[in-house]
Amino acid sequence: MDVYWDSMSNAPQLPAGFPAVVAWSSAGVRLLDQTRLPADEIYLDINNVADLEAAILRLSVRGAPAIGCAAAFGVVLIAREVPESLSGEALKKELDRRCDHLIEVRPTAVNLKWAVDRCRAVAHSQFAKNVSRTTLLLALESEAHAILEEDRRMCSAMGAHGATLLQQLLKGKKSATLMTHCNAGALATGGMGTALSVMYASQQAGLTLHVFADETRPLLQGARLTSWELARAGIDVTVICDNMAASVLRDRHPDMVVVGADRIAANGDTANKIGTYGLAILAKHHGVPFYVAAPYSTFDLTLKSGAEIPIEERKRSEISDQNGRLAVPDNAKVFNPAFDVTPAELIAGFITERGVLKPPFA
Ligand code: MRU
Repeated sequence: MDVYWDSMSNAPQLPAGFPAVVAWSSAGVRLLDQTRLPADEIYLDINNVADLEAAILRLSVRGAPAIGCAAAFGVVLIAREVPESLSGEALKKELDRRCDHLIEVRPTAVNLKWAVDRCRAVAHSQFAKNVSRTTLLLALESEAHAILEEDRRMCSAMGAHGATLLQQLLKGKKSATLMTHCNAGALATGGMGTALSVMYASQQAGLTLHVFADETRPLLQGARLTSWELARAGIDVTVICDNMAASVLRDRHPDMVVVGADRIAANGDTANKIGTYGLAILAKHHGVPFYVAAPYSTFDLTLKSGAEIPIEERKRSEISDQNGRLAVPDNAKVFNPAFDVTPAELIAGFITERGVLKPPFA
Protein backbone atom coordinates (compact mmCIF):
# COMPACT_ATOMS: atom_id res chain seq x y z
CA MET A 1 0.00 0.00 0.00
CA ASP A 2 0.86 3.64 -0.38
CA VAL A 3 3.18 4.78 2.42
CA TYR A 4 3.33 8.46 1.60
CA TRP A 5 3.64 9.39 5.28
CA ASP A 6 7.22 8.11 5.06
CA SER A 7 8.10 11.36 3.42
CA MET A 8 6.72 13.54 6.24
CA SER A 9 9.54 15.60 7.57
CA ASN A 10 9.37 16.81 11.18
CA ALA A 11 6.67 14.26 11.92
CA PRO A 12 5.55 14.69 15.52
CA GLN A 13 6.90 12.06 17.89
CA LEU A 14 6.36 11.01 21.47
CA PRO A 15 8.80 12.52 23.94
CA ALA A 16 11.91 10.32 24.29
CA GLY A 17 11.77 7.85 27.14
CA PHE A 18 8.10 6.91 26.81
CA PRO A 19 7.85 3.20 27.68
CA ALA A 20 7.50 0.69 24.84
CA VAL A 21 4.05 -0.84 25.08
CA VAL A 22 4.93 -3.84 22.88
CA ALA A 23 8.49 -5.04 22.21
CA TRP A 24 10.09 -8.22 20.90
CA SER A 25 13.27 -10.08 21.75
CA SER A 26 14.34 -13.61 20.94
CA ALA A 27 12.82 -14.60 24.30
CA GLY A 28 9.36 -13.46 23.20
CA VAL A 29 7.01 -10.50 23.60
CA ARG A 30 7.52 -7.86 26.28
CA LEU A 31 4.38 -5.95 27.31
CA LEU A 32 3.93 -2.99 29.62
CA ASP A 33 1.29 -4.40 31.99
CA GLN A 34 -1.45 -1.79 31.73
CA THR A 35 -3.55 -3.42 34.44
CA ARG A 36 -0.91 -2.16 36.90
CA LEU A 37 -0.89 1.48 35.76
CA PRO A 38 -0.80 4.14 37.07
CA ALA A 39 0.60 2.71 40.32
CA ASP A 40 3.31 0.46 38.90
CA GLU A 41 5.31 0.39 35.66
CA ILE A 42 5.80 -3.36 35.29
CA TYR A 43 6.66 -5.43 32.22
CA LEU A 44 5.50 -8.93 31.34
CA ASP A 45 7.80 -11.25 29.41
CA ILE A 46 5.69 -13.68 27.44
CA ASN A 47 7.07 -16.66 25.55
CA ASN A 48 3.94 -18.62 24.62
CA VAL A 49 0.74 -17.77 22.85
CA ALA A 50 -1.58 -18.98 25.63
CA ASP A 51 -0.04 -16.40 27.99
CA LEU A 52 -0.28 -13.74 25.30
CA GLU A 53 -3.98 -14.50 24.79
CA ALA A 54 -4.53 -14.26 28.54
CA ALA A 55 -2.69 -10.90 28.62
CA ILE A 56 -4.82 -9.56 25.77
CA LEU A 57 -8.03 -10.78 27.44
CA ARG A 58 -7.25 -9.20 30.83
CA LEU A 59 -6.16 -5.94 29.08
CA SER A 60 -2.49 -6.02 30.03
CA VAL A 61 -2.12 -4.90 26.43
CA ARG A 62 -5.17 -3.08 25.08
CA GLY A 63 -6.28 -0.53 22.53
CA ALA A 64 -6.99 -1.82 19.03
CA PRO A 65 -3.65 -0.99 17.32
CA ALA A 66 -1.51 -2.20 20.27
CA ILE A 67 -3.46 -5.46 20.40
CA GLY A 68 -2.74 -5.86 16.67
CA CYS A 69 0.99 -5.26 17.20
CA ALA A 70 1.15 -7.74 20.09
CA ALA A 71 -0.84 -10.33 18.13
CA ALA A 72 1.54 -10.03 15.17
CA PHE A 73 4.32 -11.24 17.47
CA GLY A 74 1.84 -13.81 18.73
CA VAL A 75 1.88 -15.40 15.27
CA VAL A 76 5.66 -15.83 15.67
CA LEU A 77 4.99 -17.63 18.96
CA ILE A 78 2.37 -19.78 17.22
CA ALA A 79 4.83 -20.71 14.47
CA ARG A 80 7.36 -21.68 17.16
CA GLU A 81 4.80 -23.82 18.93
CA VAL A 82 3.28 -25.84 16.07
CA PRO A 83 4.78 -29.34 16.37
CA GLU A 84 7.89 -29.97 14.25
CA SER A 85 6.32 -33.26 13.16
CA LEU A 86 3.70 -31.42 11.07
CA SER A 87 4.31 -30.44 7.46
CA GLY A 88 2.40 -29.49 4.31
CA GLU A 89 -1.39 -29.08 4.63
CA ALA A 90 -1.41 -30.35 8.24
CA LEU A 91 1.06 -27.65 9.30
CA LYS A 92 -0.93 -24.93 7.53
CA LYS A 93 -4.19 -26.14 9.07
CA GLU A 94 -2.74 -26.18 12.58
CA LEU A 95 -1.26 -22.69 12.23
CA ASP A 96 -4.61 -21.41 10.91
CA ARG A 97 -6.49 -23.00 13.81
CA ARG A 98 -4.22 -21.32 16.35
CA CYS A 99 -4.42 -17.97 14.52
CA ASP A 100 -8.24 -18.16 14.56
CA HIS A 101 -8.15 -18.84 18.30
CA LEU A 102 -5.97 -15.75 18.85
CA ILE A 103 -8.34 -13.57 16.79
CA GLU A 104 -11.34 -14.64 18.88
CA VAL A 105 -9.84 -13.35 22.15
CA ARG A 106 -11.16 -9.82 21.54
CA PRO A 107 -13.71 -9.84 18.74
CA THR A 108 -14.46 -6.11 18.30
CA ALA A 109 -10.97 -4.68 17.73
CA VAL A 110 -10.50 -5.44 14.04
CA ASN A 111 -6.79 -4.57 14.19
CA LEU A 112 -6.30 -7.93 15.92
CA LYS A 113 -7.75 -9.84 12.98
CA TRP A 114 -6.05 -7.52 10.50
CA ALA A 115 -2.59 -8.11 11.99
CA VAL A 116 -3.02 -11.86 12.45
CA ASP A 117 -4.33 -12.27 8.90
CA ARG A 118 -1.44 -10.24 7.53
CA CYS A 119 1.09 -12.46 9.33
CA ARG A 120 -0.84 -15.59 8.43
CA ALA A 121 -0.57 -14.60 4.73
CA VAL A 122 3.21 -14.35 5.16
CA ALA A 123 3.25 -17.83 6.72
CA HIS A 124 1.20 -19.21 3.84
CA SER A 125 3.54 -17.76 1.25
CA GLN A 126 6.52 -19.27 3.12
CA PHE A 127 4.75 -22.65 3.26
CA ALA A 128 4.27 -22.47 -0.52
CA LYS A 129 8.07 -22.15 -0.87
CA ASN A 130 8.57 -25.08 1.49
CA VAL A 131 11.06 -23.13 3.64
CA SER A 132 12.71 -24.28 6.87
CA ARG A 133 11.17 -23.43 10.26
CA THR A 134 13.97 -20.91 10.86
CA THR A 135 13.22 -19.08 7.62
CA LEU A 136 9.49 -19.06 8.45
CA LEU A 137 10.17 -17.59 11.90
CA LEU A 138 12.45 -14.89 10.49
CA ALA A 139 9.84 -13.89 7.88
CA LEU A 140 7.13 -13.66 10.56
CA GLU A 141 9.32 -11.66 12.93
CA SER A 142 10.11 -9.25 10.16
CA GLU A 143 6.38 -8.81 9.29
CA ALA A 144 5.50 -8.20 12.95
CA HIS A 145 8.24 -5.54 13.20
CA ALA A 146 6.90 -3.97 9.99
CA ILE A 147 3.39 -3.80 11.49
CA LEU A 148 4.71 -2.14 14.65
CA GLU A 149 6.79 0.36 12.69
CA GLU A 150 3.93 1.13 10.31
CA ASP A 151 1.63 1.76 13.26
CA ARG A 152 4.18 4.13 14.78
CA ARG A 153 4.38 6.13 11.55
CA MET A 154 0.61 6.19 11.07
CA CYS A 155 0.19 7.60 14.58
CA SER A 156 2.59 10.46 13.79
CA ALA A 157 0.75 11.18 10.53
CA MET A 158 -2.65 11.18 12.30
CA GLY A 159 -1.24 13.55 14.88
CA ALA A 160 -0.03 15.96 12.21
CA HIS A 161 -3.37 15.94 10.35
CA GLY A 162 -5.33 16.26 13.58
CA ALA A 163 -3.22 19.20 14.77
CA THR A 164 -3.85 21.02 11.49
CA LEU A 165 -7.58 20.37 11.83
CA LEU A 166 -7.61 21.64 15.41
CA GLN A 167 -5.78 24.81 14.39
CA GLN A 168 -8.43 25.40 11.71
CA LEU A 169 -11.22 24.94 14.28
CA LEU A 170 -9.48 27.35 16.67
CA LYS A 171 -9.37 30.17 14.07
CA GLY A 172 -6.21 31.72 15.46
CA LYS A 173 -6.78 30.91 19.15
CA LYS A 174 -3.62 29.48 20.72
CA SER A 175 -5.23 27.39 23.42
CA ALA A 176 -7.80 24.62 23.25
CA THR A 177 -9.99 22.53 25.49
CA LEU A 178 -10.45 18.95 24.31
CA MET A 179 -12.37 15.99 25.60
CA THR A 180 -11.73 12.28 25.13
CA HIS A 181 -13.02 8.91 26.23
CA CYS A 182 -11.13 5.72 27.15
CA ASN A 183 -7.45 5.65 26.15
CA ALA A 184 -6.51 6.08 22.51
CA GLY A 185 -2.97 7.17 23.26
CA ALA A 186 0.57 5.88 23.14
CA LEU A 187 -0.50 3.12 25.52
CA ALA A 188 -3.01 1.90 22.94
CA THR A 189 -0.73 1.85 19.88
CA GLY A 190 2.79 1.21 18.63
CA GLY A 191 3.36 4.99 18.41
CA MET A 192 1.99 8.20 19.92
CA GLY A 193 -1.65 7.15 19.78
CA THR A 194 -4.63 7.97 17.60
CA ALA A 195 -6.86 10.48 19.43
CA LEU A 196 -4.05 11.50 21.80
CA SER A 197 -1.58 11.88 18.91
CA VAL A 198 -3.69 14.91 17.93
CA MET A 199 -2.98 16.33 21.40
CA TYR A 200 0.75 15.57 21.35
CA ALA A 201 1.15 17.03 17.85
CA SER A 202 -0.90 20.13 18.76
CA GLN A 203 1.25 20.69 21.82
CA GLN A 204 4.37 20.34 19.66
CA ALA A 205 2.82 22.89 17.25
CA GLY A 206 2.70 25.38 20.14
CA LEU A 207 -0.92 25.12 21.33
CA THR A 208 -1.73 25.13 25.03
CA LEU A 209 -4.14 22.34 25.80
CA HIS A 210 -6.51 21.40 28.55
CA VAL A 211 -8.02 17.93 28.24
CA PHE A 212 -11.06 16.51 30.00
CA ALA A 213 -10.64 12.72 30.20
CA ASP A 214 -13.72 10.62 30.97
CA GLU A 215 -12.82 8.07 33.63
CA THR A 216 -14.35 5.33 31.39
CA ARG A 217 -16.31 2.86 33.47
CA PRO A 218 -15.93 0.04 34.29
CA LEU A 219 -12.16 -0.46 33.81
CA LEU A 220 -11.11 3.20 34.05
CA GLN A 221 -8.86 3.46 31.00
CA GLY A 222 -9.43 7.24 31.02
CA ALA A 223 -8.71 7.75 34.72
CA ARG A 224 -5.80 5.32 34.94
CA LEU A 225 -4.17 5.52 31.51
CA THR A 226 -5.10 8.68 29.58
CA SER A 227 -4.41 10.91 32.55
CA TRP A 228 -1.13 9.06 33.23
CA GLU A 229 0.24 9.52 29.75
CA LEU A 230 -1.01 13.09 29.17
CA ALA A 231 0.33 14.28 32.52
CA ARG A 232 3.64 12.59 31.77
CA ALA A 233 3.81 14.54 28.50
CA GLY A 234 3.09 17.80 30.34
CA ILE A 235 -0.48 18.20 29.06
CA ASP A 236 -2.97 19.65 31.53
CA VAL A 237 -5.55 16.91 32.12
CA THR A 238 -8.66 16.75 34.29
CA VAL A 239 -10.39 13.42 34.93
CA ILE A 240 -14.17 13.48 35.15
CA CYS A 241 -16.66 10.70 35.91
CA ASP A 242 -18.49 9.60 32.76
CA ASN A 243 -21.77 11.03 34.06
CA MET A 244 -20.24 14.53 34.25
CA ALA A 245 -19.70 14.77 30.48
CA ALA A 246 -23.01 16.52 29.74
CA SER A 247 -22.44 19.38 32.15
CA VAL A 248 -18.77 19.77 31.16
CA LEU A 249 -19.81 19.98 27.49
CA ARG A 250 -22.41 22.62 28.33
CA ASP A 251 -20.40 24.66 30.83
CA ARG A 252 -16.84 24.41 29.45
CA HIS A 253 -17.74 24.00 25.77
CA PRO A 254 -14.62 22.12 24.55
CA ASP A 255 -13.32 22.95 21.07
CA MET A 256 -13.39 19.30 20.04
CA VAL A 257 -14.14 15.80 21.28
CA VAL A 258 -11.69 13.28 19.84
CA VAL A 259 -11.76 9.53 20.45
CA GLY A 260 -10.25 6.38 18.95
CA ALA A 261 -11.98 3.41 17.35
CA ASP A 262 -11.98 -0.37 17.47
CA ARG A 263 -13.77 -0.99 14.17
CA ILE A 264 -15.26 1.34 11.57
CA ALA A 265 -17.83 -0.02 9.11
CA ALA A 266 -18.02 1.07 5.45
CA ASN A 267 -20.76 3.64 6.19
CA GLY A 268 -18.69 5.28 8.97
CA ASP A 269 -20.51 3.73 11.94
CA THR A 270 -17.82 3.35 14.60
CA ALA A 271 -17.35 0.90 17.45
CA ASN A 272 -15.33 2.27 20.36
CA LYS A 273 -15.25 1.92 24.14
CA ILE A 274 -18.67 1.71 25.78
CA GLY A 275 -19.87 5.24 26.49
CA THR A 276 -18.56 6.74 23.24
CA TYR A 277 -22.03 6.71 21.67
CA GLY A 278 -23.51 8.63 24.59
CA LEU A 279 -20.67 11.16 24.45
CA ALA A 280 -21.25 11.66 20.70
CA ILE A 281 -24.95 12.40 21.30
CA LEU A 282 -24.04 14.87 24.04
CA ALA A 283 -21.43 16.55 21.83
CA LYS A 284 -23.99 16.95 19.01
CA HIS A 285 -26.52 18.43 21.43
CA HIS A 286 -24.00 20.99 22.63
CA GLY A 287 -22.61 21.82 19.18
CA VAL A 288 -19.14 20.41 19.90
CA PRO A 289 -17.47 18.71 16.89
CA PHE A 290 -16.93 14.98 17.51
CA TYR A 291 -13.96 13.42 15.68
CA VAL A 292 -12.67 9.85 15.49
CA ALA A 293 -8.94 9.26 14.93
CA ALA A 294 -8.03 5.88 13.44
CA PRO A 295 -5.58 4.27 10.98
CA TYR A 296 -6.63 2.25 7.92
CA SER A 297 -6.16 -0.98 9.91
CA THR A 298 -9.26 -0.06 11.97
CA PHE A 299 -11.57 0.33 8.93
CA ASP A 300 -13.52 -2.83 8.11
CA LEU A 301 -14.98 -2.21 4.69
CA THR A 302 -16.41 -5.75 4.59
CA LEU A 303 -19.15 -4.56 6.97
CA LYS A 304 -21.86 -2.33 5.52
CA SER A 305 -22.88 -0.76 8.82
CA GLY A 306 -22.24 -0.78 12.54
CA ALA A 307 -25.09 -3.26 13.05
CA GLU A 308 -22.70 -5.95 11.76
CA ILE A 309 -19.86 -5.16 14.19
CA PRO A 310 -19.46 -7.92 16.82
CA ILE A 311 -19.52 -6.44 20.31
CA GLU A 312 -17.38 -8.09 22.98
CA GLU A 313 -19.17 -8.84 26.23
CA ARG A 314 -16.96 -9.08 29.30
CA LYS A 315 -17.28 -10.79 32.62
CA ARG A 316 -19.69 -9.82 35.36
CA SER A 317 -17.03 -9.27 38.01
CA GLU A 318 -15.66 -6.19 36.20
CA ILE A 319 -18.84 -4.45 37.35
CA SER A 320 -19.96 -6.46 40.36
CA ASP A 321 -16.60 -6.60 42.12
CA GLN A 322 -15.16 -3.21 43.11
CA ASN A 323 -11.69 -3.70 44.62
CA GLY A 324 -12.76 -6.93 46.25
CA ARG A 325 -16.06 -5.50 47.55
CA LEU A 326 -19.38 -6.75 46.25
CA ALA A 327 -20.97 -3.83 44.34
CA VAL A 328 -23.93 -5.74 42.87
CA PRO A 329 -25.93 -8.37 44.79
CA ASP A 330 -25.60 -11.93 43.51
CA ASN A 331 -29.29 -12.08 42.58
CA ALA A 332 -29.05 -9.12 40.15
CA LYS A 333 -27.91 -9.59 36.55
CA VAL A 334 -25.08 -7.54 35.03
CA PHE A 335 -24.69 -6.51 31.37
CA ASN A 336 -21.11 -5.64 30.42
CA PRO A 337 -20.61 -4.82 26.70
CA ALA A 338 -17.07 -3.48 26.20
CA PHE A 339 -17.97 -1.30 23.20
CA ASP A 340 -20.83 0.57 21.59
CA VAL A 341 -21.44 1.82 18.07
CA THR A 342 -21.64 5.52 17.28
CA PRO A 343 -23.71 6.17 14.15
CA ALA A 344 -21.83 7.96 11.38
CA GLU A 345 -24.20 10.95 11.43
CA LEU A 346 -22.83 11.97 14.84
CA ILE A 347 -19.21 12.00 13.57
CA ALA A 348 -17.82 15.26 12.15
CA GLY A 349 -14.87 13.46 10.54
CA PHE A 350 -12.20 10.75 10.71
CA ILE A 351 -8.62 11.79 11.34
CA THR A 352 -6.56 9.18 9.47
CA GLU A 353 -2.92 8.83 8.44
CA ARG A 354 -3.97 10.03 4.96
CA GLY A 355 -5.83 13.14 6.06
CA VAL A 356 -9.24 14.05 7.49
CA LEU A 357 -12.29 12.30 5.99
CA LYS A 358 -15.45 14.40 6.12
CA PRO A 359 -19.01 13.20 5.44
CA PRO A 360 -20.55 11.69 3.39
CA PHE A 361 -18.44 8.69 4.40
CA ALA A 362 -20.06 5.92 2.33
O1 MRU B 1 -11.00 -2.26 25.99
P1 MRU B 1 -9.88 -1.41 25.46
O2 MRU B 1 -9.15 -0.68 26.53
O3 MRU B 1 -8.97 -2.19 24.55
O4 MRU B 1 -10.62 -0.34 24.56
C1 MRU B 1 -9.84 0.58 23.86
C2 MRU B 1 -10.63 1.58 23.09
O5 MRU B 1 -11.84 1.53 23.03
C3 MRU B 1 -9.85 2.56 22.29
O6 MRU B 1 -10.53 3.78 22.20
C4 MRU B 1 -9.63 2.01 20.87
O7 MRU B 1 -9.13 0.71 20.92
C5 MRU B 1 -8.72 2.86 20.08
S1 MRU B 1 -7.09 2.81 20.68
C6 MRU B 1 -6.12 3.75 19.67
